[in-house]
Amino acid sequence: MSKEIEEHRNLNHSGNEPFSSVLEKHISRRSIMRGGLGMAALTVFGGFGLAGCSDNDDDDDDAPVKNALTLAFEAIAGSKTDAFAVAAGYTAQVLIPWGTPLNNAAPAWREDLGFTPEIQLNSVGMHHDGMAPFPLDEANAANHFILALNNEYIDQGALWAPQGGPTNKNEGARPADEVRTEINAHGVTLVEVRKAANGQWEHVLNSQYNRRYTSATEFALSGPVAGTDYVKTKFSPTGLVTRGTNNNCANGYTPWGTYLTCEENWPGYFVKDSGREIDDDRLGIETGRGRYGWETAAGDASEQNDEFARFNATPTGANATEDYRNEPRTFGYIVEIDPYTGDRVKRTHLGRFRHEGCWPGKLVAGEPVVFYTGHDSRNEYIYKFVSDAVWDPADQLAAGSAADRLAIGAKYMDKGTLYVAQFNADGSGQWLPLTPESTTQDGRRLSTALGLANNDLAGVIIHTCDAADLMGATPMDRPEWGAVDPVSGEVYMTLTNNYKRTEAGTAPTFTNDGSAVEDLGVGYNYAPVNGPNPRADNEGGQVIRWREPSVGATTFEWDIFVCGAAASDANNLSGLTELNQFASPDGLFFDAREDGQGILWIETDNGYDAVTDYTNDQVLAVVPANVKKADGDITVVGAADQAQLKRFAVGPNGCEVTGIFTNADKTALFVNIQHPGNWPSTTDATVVTSGTVRPRASTVVIQKVDGGKIGV
Ligand code: FEO
Ligand code: CA
Ligand code: CA
Repeated sequence: MSKEIEEHRNLNHSGNEPFSSVLEKHISRRSIMRGGLGMAALTVFGGFGLAGCSDNDDDDDDAPVKNALTLAFEAIAGSKTDAFAVAAGYTAQVLIPWGTPLNNAAPAWREDLGFTPEIQLNSVGMHHDGMAPFPLDEANAANHFILALNNEYIDQGALWAPQGGPTNKNEGARPADEVRTEINAHGVTLVEVRKAANGQWEHVLNSQYNRRYTSATEFALSGPVAGTDYVKTKFSPTGLVTRGTNNNCANGYTPWGTYLTCEENWPGYFVKDSGREIDDDRLGIETGRGRYGWETAAGDASEQNDEFARFNATPTGANATEDYRNEPRTFGYIVEIDPYTGDRVKRTHLGRFRHEGCWPGKLVAGEPVVFYTGHDSRNEYIYKFVSDAVWDPADQLAAGSAADRLAIGAKYMDKGTLYVAQFNADGSGQWLPLTPESTTQDGRRLSTALGLANNDLAGVIIHTCDAADLMGATPMDRPEWGAVDPVSGEVYMTLTNNYKRTEAGTAPTFTNDGSAVEDLGVGYNYAPVNGPNPRADNEGGQVIRWREPSVGATTFEWDIFVCGAAASDANNLSGLTELNQFASPDGLFFDAREDGQGILWIETDNGYDAVTDYTNDQVLAVVPANVKKADGDITVVGAADQAQLKRFAVGPNGCEVTGIFTNADKTALFVNIQHPGNWPSTTDATVVTSGTVRPRASTVVIQKVDGGKIGV
């Protein structure tokens, strides 16, 4: 890709429009909103005033001219069938559905297959989510790689279908082997895949790279929390290891060739009936019974090494090394996996909360390495980690490299600064550091405000959300996926929906008791609309965008790229039509192309009736560089840009569409279908199921009939 072109774009950012005019634009937006017309149109949000990439941009005649990347498919109508639908000219193949054997220790799939812990440990896990490819051969990187795949949670009905459902689902002790099987259905699957001579994709049975990580696999801890009293348990009196990764939702990857898997709704798996601390309440550790009652198998005669007892964090011993009170504090992290060796570690410095995913920012030699990550809960926050070490391009490793990838990960992810985002109404924003010495919005030292020792960085991380409250972070409409334009560094993030967003002028309320935010462990329950979250009772969701003046900067400018809505909605702020109406954006992928432009792919996980009545969850595409004003300035999606935002695919009934990447030569788009209702019945994803099948989450590989690049 052409770096010069994008530097031209950056320079134009500062040169094209004086700050006063940017400010004026944001002031006019604010006054419109205050005047009661704020829902009239999103076009007043205006974009950054960036120079576009068009050839009529005459601000810099020396700049190379770009050929615009154009979406060449016809947008499709909504679909509500037990089939995957995709634009004309494309095929869609089901690959590695749940229960596909990874090796000969598991039997071939059949409708009445009864699962055991052993079978599930040697098969593809359940509920596919984030994923990424890791090439095995640079010369054939596009068509042969290790596919790393998250298995977020489970459908107990499908898992236990042959026996009529799970045993003691809601009360009574769960059988030990059912719990072990469910534990093994969670986590991460690594599987070698390749494109066969017939153009279809296949997985490689018995590959040395096929692995499972489950909610029982041992993981090292690293970063500030590792080895501290916060994470000492009976299993790990040194606080250096834990068992399991859980509710692995979205993902990331690193330039050094490792997979990042992100722990999201893990608190629901742990029970703590007494001795609760503020982070237990803030993050939602359960009382009574965990999500699947795994802790109820404790004491079974076959239990080994407290494999079930560890899900009950109620203190029972004299201190933390005699029980599992701290077990939940070993979860809520970004997990790094070397897909080539199988080595893995939890990187605690990127914060502890319900992580959706983790995305690297723009890489610049000699500048810090940056990761963005969001907390997917209502009125929670967006974070950024900035490494102390600066980027050395020698750390961008090729497929065959024997370098210690996790050692490189330690260099960039264990030492640095975690920030949280504060958005200003005028379109600016700042990253607020979460360090013990930071000054809270009411003038206190952060460590003191959190009740911690002066330099207790581990304590700040354990209490990431409360630290963010105290610093004045902006509560968001459930941050889901992020995506980074690797050339400009612009970041896009989905804010999926928020029924706890209230009208302007209403007072915020807090989770526990309505007390002030200075009281720890509360967090916002309801919060009024703010700049990037402009709609009360937000069912449509939105995609926001920000850019920073440099890598590692502590300021940014933001806008709202597009707002989800039904075409018929009164608050259809982006002017969507039948052919692109959507709600609850979730998955997101910036598909960078050789010319420096890219396609932004948007996936949905929608529960908004006005849209679900029309279509199942879907995949949309837009080239952000083509969403521009007549003068070439990049802007946000408005009524005039509807031809730029196109529905590309629709999932089968009951599913969400998630997990997404294109292969190296852009000839295949991989997406995941999670929790389908009655699908798939064959390897052709577009075949409508006749009758009833045992539903299986699956990867779907979309290819062009003519073998060309996806989308264009
Ligand atoms: Fe697992 Fe926020 O989606
Ligand atoms: Ca998600
Ligand atoms: Ca979601």
